[in-house]
This record gives sequence, structure tokens and C-alpha cells, in this order.
Amino acid sequence: MDKLVINGGIPLDGEIRVSGAKNAALPILCAGLLTAEPLRIGNVPHLKDVTTTLSLLGQMGVDVSVDDRLGVELRAAKVDHLEAPYEMVKTMRASILVLGPMVARFGQARVSLPGGCAIGMRPVNLHIKGLQAMGAEIDIEHGYVVAKANRLKGARIFMDLVTVTGTENLMMAAALADGTTVLENAAREPEVVDLANCLIAMGARIEGAGTDVITVHGVEKLHGADYRVMPDRIEAGTYLVAAVATGGRIKLRDMRPGILDAVLEKLREAGATIEAGEDWISLEMAGPLKSVSVRTAPYPAFPTDMQAQFMAMNVVADGAATMTETIFENRFMHVQELRRMGADIEVEGNTAVVRGVKELQGATVMATDLRASASLIIAGLIAQGRRWWTAFTTWTGATSASRRSCPSSAPASGGPTDERHHHRPVQGPHFRGNQAPPGSGGHRPPGGPGVLPQADHRHQSAGSTADHRSRHRRAHLCPARRRRHGHRRQGRAL
Ligand code: EPU
Repeated sequence: MDKLVINGGIPLDGEIRVSGAKNAALPILCAGLLTAEPLRIGNVPHLKDVTTTLSLLGQMGVDVSVDDRLGVELRAAKVDHLEAPYEMVKTMRASILVLGPMVARFGQARVSLPGGCAIGMRPVNLHIKGLQAMGAEIDIEHGYVVAKANRLKGARIFMDLVTVTGTENLMMAAALADGTTVLENAAREPEVVDLANCLIAMGARIEGAGTDVITVHGVEKLHGADYRVMPDRIEAGTYLVAAVATGGRIKLRDMRPGILDAVLEKLREAGATIEAGEDWISLEMAGPLKSVSVRTAPYPAFPTDMQAQFMAMNVVADGAATMTETIFENRFMHVQELRRMGADIEVEGNTAVVRGVKELQGATVMATDLRASASLIIAGLIAQGRRWWTAFTTWTGATSASRRSCPSSAPASGGPTDERHHHRPVQGPHFRGNQAPPGSGGHRPPGGPGVLPQADHRHQSAGSTADHRSRHRRAHLCPARRRRHGHRRQGRAL
């Protein structure tokens, strides 16, 4: 188990680069299965789910190489193991994204059903129904989805719920199907559009990505391509919320502001001053922090992946907010932990009522899913003086706050879910011997070829003038926040 110790109570102040989007990179990596030619993918984020996906693809027989500029090259010319085993799928649900490409290109697949998850049941029935509509024969055998097809056929598929990975799986399958597939009520998330653009670069014929009707005219074959993954809007939003919650300021580079509209709107409502250019966003929090109510829904509405972070911000805001979660039935796991730090939150069904308190106290807390973990980090950044700990395996980075990552007795690569000792070694010119993967700072991955190390130190502070700016800002703060700043100074002097 990894732990973080955070000395909170310091306004964040700095500049940071936004990584490639996790939820775009994962399906794009799986799209590598759709062609025998090399697919070169740039701006791949360095995190555990990417490592797991590369391991999974390596086990299947895909040649994987990684260079030192966050680039991955996949060559699926000799895929001979058409299976995603339970041991891998249970660690990362997105493994289901190999199902569509495998059935479409190889006519068969055996993929473990993901099972339940910390944030909800998350079935994959719509992925399965869609493939059946395209002519695949699918049985559930011993917890595995076993799929067979001669060649998938184009179909009209209506999904009664908006599903992101469901849309992605079916879009990849349809790319190689015989005839035209129409996906109705498709997800409009920017990550779906990014995958569509990558598939188009590989020769796919796709129209309507970004709308709720996607039309895919199947082609016989896809070819290799070079593609760069879009920026991570959720990582960006998380940094912005952290800056707002601590009364700080931040500049994000390598970002596309247009994909974060719902979040930026809410942050303005909270009192932030935001400016944006083509590929940057800057935010400053000079006045009082106001509560903001949110209701999660599919894109372009407010994202479920930002709900937990906004809750951490609301716990110290002026007033009360309601936060309604409509996507996942169990995505309030952070509430109990935030309460232990002094938050005033009541949950009724899928709505949490958050009443702002003057301050949070440091405490030992337990992190669950990725976004809940991010919310606890934000809470730690807000909390006064005392150290607190959290279990968290994906480093989100921070700017000027004090932080320390503590290795524990578990393997550095991610504890019980780490599969690196079992997978077939991944081949490729850049990822063998002593060469380093992206973001490793020149160090070889501890798990051998094909495995990215877990510690991610790319997000470094861009230098801190926090104390100076915090003094400057204090003059403009509301009484509650002035008190917090006062406590903070006292805490440090002690
Ligand atoms: N659903 C079904 N049947 C299906 C598929 C989905 O009932 O066959 C339900 C789910 O249970 C859920 C809703 O539909 O209630 C939406 O789920 P969706 O399929 O859209 O979620 P997902 O594709 O599994 C992706 C992201 C999540 C993000 C959601 C919603 C990836 C790899 N994951 O999950 O990201 O929360 O969309 O936007 O793209 C995260 O990054 O922390 C994360 C959880």
C-alpha cells in the first residue's frame, strides 16, 4: 500500500503541465490490436492503468516499445493469445476494451467479466448486446465472456444508457465490420472523440463522434498511424479545484480549455478568476470561496469524475451545496473520510448535502477509488498543520504544497494487483535491457521489460512564492478564510 503524507494549509501556487488523458489513452492502446502495422502513440500518461494495459497487450503477443518522450509503439502482427484473464481485468476494468478489437479482427475473444467495483456495479451488458447485434456469438463461461464471429456485420445499435467504454468498444468493433453500424445514444465524451480520431488516422470511416449518433462504415483493414493523446481534463480539473480550495493560483499548460466548460463554469461560481488561451488555463482565487451545487451527468454536463474533488472544496466553502451523483450508485466513498477530517456532510440517496465548515483537521484517512483519493489529497491540502496519510497509488502531483511520498512494505509497482512478474515479456527496441521508460528520469523500470515504474515525478513544483502571495492575498479574504490563514501561520510557528 502506498502512502502520502501531506502538510496542508498552504495555498497552491505554480505552473504545471497536464498529462495525456488516461481515459483516452487506454482505448487508444487497445485500438493497437486492430492492425498488424505499427501504431505509434504520443503523450501517453505515466500511470498504473497504462502499465497494466501494456502488460495485457504484451501477454497477448503484441510487441510493445516505449520511448523516453511518453511515446508507445504497438505492433500487433503476431497476436496469439486472445484472452484477458481475470487477474488482469479485476485490477483494471478498462481491460474490457480489448473485447471489441479482438472479435472484430481475429473473430474470437475470451475476456473475464470485470465484476463489481468500488464506485458501483458497472455491468458490461451493453458492450455484449452491441457485439451480439453485430453477429457475435457470446457465452458467459466460468466468469468469462467468450465471443466468436466470422466477420462482424454492421448494425443499428441503441444503447439505453450512455456508456463511455461501451461506445468505444463498439466503435472499434464496427471499424472492421462488414457494412455500416449506427450507434445511437452514444457517449459524447472528448475521449470518445479522441479514440475516433485515432481510428480515422488508422483508416477507419467514422462520422458523428462527439454527437449522440456515431456512424461507422466498416473497412476490410486498418493501417498503422501516429497519434497524440489529448490532455487529461479530469487531471486538469483536479489541479484547478486544489488551487481554489487552498485559495491559491495555478497555470496549466498543454491543456484544451474547451473540454472543461462545465467545470470552469462551476469554479467561476465558486469565486475563481479564470483566464484561458488556446492551450493553457490560469486561475486565481482572491476572494471568498462559495459553495457550488453540482449534478453529475454524461458529457457535456458536469463529470462524475470531478464530483469527489468538488466535494472536498465545498466542505470549507461559505454556505451549503447539494451534490447529486447520477452515474455511479456508490460514488460517495470519500464522504466518511472527509467527515473524519471535520466535514459536515449528509447523504440522502444519491444526493449529498455539504455545509461549509471553517477548517478541516488532518487525520489518517483511507483512499478508495482514484477520484475519491484525489478529493482526500485536496482535503489534506486544505487541512490545518497536522500530517495525514492516505493510501493512493496514482500520484496526482501538486504545486507548492509540502508533500512526501512514503514507500511502504508493498512492492513499489502497486501492491497486490501488480501483474508484472506473470506477463509475457514485452518486446521492443526501446523497452528492453537498461533503457528507461517515459517519465522514469532515466531509471530502468523495477519490474523488468514492459513495465513502467509507479512513482511519477513528472509533476514537479514550478517554484513557490506561496508565502509572499498568501500575505498579499490575505488582505482580500473573507473573515473565515482570514481566520484560516491566521491559524495556518500559528500552526507553522508552533
Ligand atoms: N452501464 C451499464 N451497462 C453497461 C455499461 C455501463 O449499465 O454495459 C452503466 C454503468 O454502471 C454506469 C453508467 O452506465 O452506471 C455509465 O458507465 P460507463 O460505461 O459510461 O462508464 P465506464 O465506461 O466504465 C468511463 C470512465 C470512468 C468514468 C465513466 C463515466 C474509462 C476507462 N473510464 O467508465 O472513469 O467515470 O466513464 O464518465 O473511460 C475514472 O477515470 O476515475 C473513471 C471511473
